[in-house]
This record gives sequence, C-alpha cells and structure tokens, in this order.
Amino acid sequence: MLLHSLAFSLAVKRVFNCDTAHISDECGLSVSIHTVNSKSRTVYVCSACGDSTPKWQGQCPACQAWNTLSAHATPKNTVRTGSRPLVEAGATETLGSVATAEAPRLPTGSGEFDRVLGGGLVAGSVTLIGGDPGIGKSTLLLQAAAGLARSTAVLYATGEESLRQVGLRARRLALDDAPLGLLAETDVETVISAARAREARVLVVDSIQTMGTAEVDSSPGSVSQLRESAARFVQFAKQSGTAVFLIGHVTKEGVIAGPRVLEHLVDTVLYFESDAGSRFRVVRAVKNRFGAANEIGVFSMEEGGLREVKNPSAIFLSRHPAPVAGSIVTVAREGTRPLLVEVQALVDEARSQNTRRVAVGFEGNRLALLLAVLHRHGGVALGAHDVFINVVGGVHLGETAADLPAILAAVSSLDDRPLPQDLISFGELGLAGEVRPVPFGEERLREAAKHGFRRAIVPRANAPRKGIEGLEIVAVERLSEALEALRQPART
Ligand code: TYD
Ligand code: MG
Repeated sequence: MLLHSLAFSLAVKRVFNCDTAHISDECGLSVSIHTVNSKSRTVYVCSACGDSTPKWQGQCPACQAWNTLSAHATPKNTVRTGSRPLVEAGATETLGSVATAEAPRLPTGSGEFDRVLGGGLVAGSVTLIGGDPGIGKSTLLLQAAAGLARSTAVLYATGEESLRQVGLRARRLALDDAPLGLLAETDVETVISAARAREARVLVVDSIQTMGTAEVDSSPGSVSQLRESAARFVQFAKQSGTAVFLIGHVTKEGVIAGPRVLEHLVDTVLYFESDAGSRFRVVRAVKNRFGAANEIGVFSMEEGGLREVKNPSAIFLSRHPAPVAGSIVTVAREGTRPLLVEVQALVDEARSQNTRRVAVGFEGNRLALLLAVLHRHGGVALGAHDVFINVVGGVHLGETAADLPAILAAVSSLDDRPLPQDLISFGELGLAGEVRPVPFGEERLREAAKHGFRRAIVPRANAPRKGIEGLEIVAVERLSEALEALRQPART
C-alpha cells in the first residue's frame, strides 16, 4: 500500500515536475497520500543524546560525548499528511484569545497510571514509555488500552508480537472482552492510516523500535528510522488530537538507538524502574508537559498482570532481623508523595591506590562532594577507603534530601556501628558543613511516624514547632551536630 502510494507520488512528481506536497492543492488532484521530497540531506546524529548537527565533529556539541556522531540521511522536507493541520501555517493568536481551559483527561482505568500521566491522558499528547525488555511495558499498555477502550476508540498496533500472542496475553489478563482494535504492523503510514480509519482517540505503538517508514532507507531501530517514525506519530497526534503512546526498549548505548533520542520530541517521558527479582515496578515521569515531573506510579507484577499499589510509601523498606552497620532509612519525596527507602553504605579499606566511589541509585558526583564535606567539616577522612552507596529497591534518589542519610550510613559502616532501626534522617549538606532544609519536611516526618519510626535526625528548619507524636526530632544545623547525635543514645 505504501510502496504503491510512494510510486504514485513519484510518478505524479515526474509528470508535473513540482513538489508533490503541493500538487494535491495546486494541480487539483485530491490525493490523501503522504508525500515527501525524495531529496535528502545528511545530518550527524549523536547516539548518546539524539542531538543532530549539520557537520561531523569528533565530540557531540550537545552532550560532549566523543565519537557518537554518525551520518543519517533525512528527508529534506517535513512530511505532510493528507489532512489539514489543526492550525493554518502562519495563523497567529493573541494570548487572551487562546483557550486556557484545562485539557480534559481520559481516565485509563488505573489510578496509578493516571497519576504519573498527571491525572489521566490528554488528547493529542505523545507519551514515550521506556524500560528494559520484559519489565512490563506491553502488559501495562495493554491493560491501559483495554481500560480506555471501554469509553473511547483505541488502536493497539504491535510490531513485536503476533495478534495471537497479544490475544493470549489479553485472555490471561482477563481483558479479552474489551472492544480494543488490534493491528500487527511495522509500517508507520499503515498504522496511522488504520488509526484514522478507526477514528482512534488513543493509539498504542508497541514498540517504536520495530516501526519504520520506506522513505528512510535504513533499517528499523536505527537512529534515523526511530526519529523519523516518532516524528510522524507526533505529527499525527498533533493534527488529529489522538493520544499516542510510544513504547521503547532501553538498550545498551550505541548498539541500537534507545528511546533517549526521542525524549525531546514527545510531551511525556515515562520510564519503568525495577530491582532485579522484585515484583514491584515503578513508572516514573521524567518529563511531563501535563503534570509533575518525577511523579511515580507503583505497580506489582502478579499472575493477572500489573496491579496498582495504592499506598506504596513503605514497599521498599527491607527490615533487617537485627540492626546492621551502614544502613539507614530516609524519607524521599517522589513526585507528590513520600517514600521510605533504605540507603546502604559500605566503607572498606582500599585495595589499591585508586580509591573507588560507587553509587547506585544516588548521584556519583554528589557522593564525592559529600565525602569532601565529611572530611573537612566532620573530621572523618575516607581518602584511603573505597565507598559504595546503594539505594535499596532499585529506587533512584535524585534529591539532595538524601545527602545526610548517605553520609550517616557511610560513617556507620566505617565505625562498624549499626544505627538504631527506628531512626530516619533526611537533609541537604552544604559545602560549608551546614545542614539545609528540604521541601515537605513535616510531611516526611509524619510519614516516618506513621510507619513506626521513633527518632529523626533532620535539618533544624524542618523541625515542626509543635513536634510530632511518637517521634523524637533531633534538629541539627551542622554536620558535626548530626554526627554527634549518632553517638548519643536515643531518649526513651
Ligand atoms: P511484557 O509486558 O511483555 O514486557 P515488555 O513489553 O516490557 O518487554 O512483560 C513480560 C513479563 O511480565 C514476563 O516476564 C512475564 C510477566 N508477566 C506476568 O508476570 N504476569 C502477567 O500477567 C503478564 C502478562 C506478564
Ligand atoms: Mg513488549
């Protein structure tokens, strides 16, 4: 079908010797085909960040990575589809005349998924969902598509699996009665035509790496195919108002282009996170034009698919049977809610001249900075030690509230002195050794008290005036005070 229309458009172009994109209007031919100028230009695309430059360079000007630029031919003109764009080219409006009402949201049938999307699905939005193979992307999207299909027209296009496989999965998930449109296809234009024909309000593309268009002559999964295919789906979403989900596998950098190169094209970027072997899955919004970035939705993978975990604040807490050195619980804030997580540290004598600082789920550069603060303002030198920090449960702590607990865990490991199991801590450390407040201090403390914690070492400015029942609050202004508090037994 596509080859047919492509051949037709080229033939038209030859006969009329003008750009096919305009023929349909100017030459009176009413063709609703997708046309593109066959001339292409070369750009150099970075496999690490997806940025492109017109000239080859050894280093990517955007992300500074070396030897990541490779040549890709891109069609010279952007693609125009048969239908009219929503806004005429050049038409301007004034700020006052623009409709500013909240975009209506479509509920997906899953409260946790709606939460990460910012309160439901927005019409015309494009959402990229990335994650390791097998983590549950297809399962989540099939569940959401089936949920949406109960109230609106939905098309699920798969290039990964056969229709039978999707059908079998739907039966396992007890969704086989949902009025969901299915299509096994890898050609972008065919998928878009099918979505138009079905007047789908929601389109799921599983996965973007399997999709391709004949107008880019490189194999599916290459950077140019990925970008061009995604760009066409984005254009389709914006023109038609159809909400589009693009599923993308996260793959090793450079092997096959991962979804990172698409992040800037889409409205919302969600990533699946999970700890190896854990049944919990965290879906995190790393970018969202329609909601809070960093919002998370928590699910557990069960026999019958992904079930939402409605009160996830303590799911990552592993309670040790006896206190262990190098472990402390902190209250992180993920999106709009608190989450209790264990931060572990291992401080060991270095075996070689090169000491190692390794952080998993924690900023590596921040760790080096914190160790310098600990040395200078806490009097604890770790210059001859390896320091490892790990955040339990596959959670990534991006906020500075994890500074103080990470350092307290490191000191506990160095001294081989377990911290009390009912202790929590949070707080940012400044270069001058000061402990700085973090947002939502009281909410974090309340969450800790709710889960049975009895003592909290926190920034002074975060200590609530009235106190919190059942929680002894040790308010500190300097790192040295926090270290001092560790050595004192808790008040009983
Ligand atoms: P899938 O959604 O196919 O992953 P992705 O699309 O991200 O590659 O998930 C596959 C995994 O989920 C597979 O290991 C089996 C497991 N699973 C369940 O445990 N229960 C279920 O109901 C389903 C459908 C899958
Ligand atoms: Mg899949």
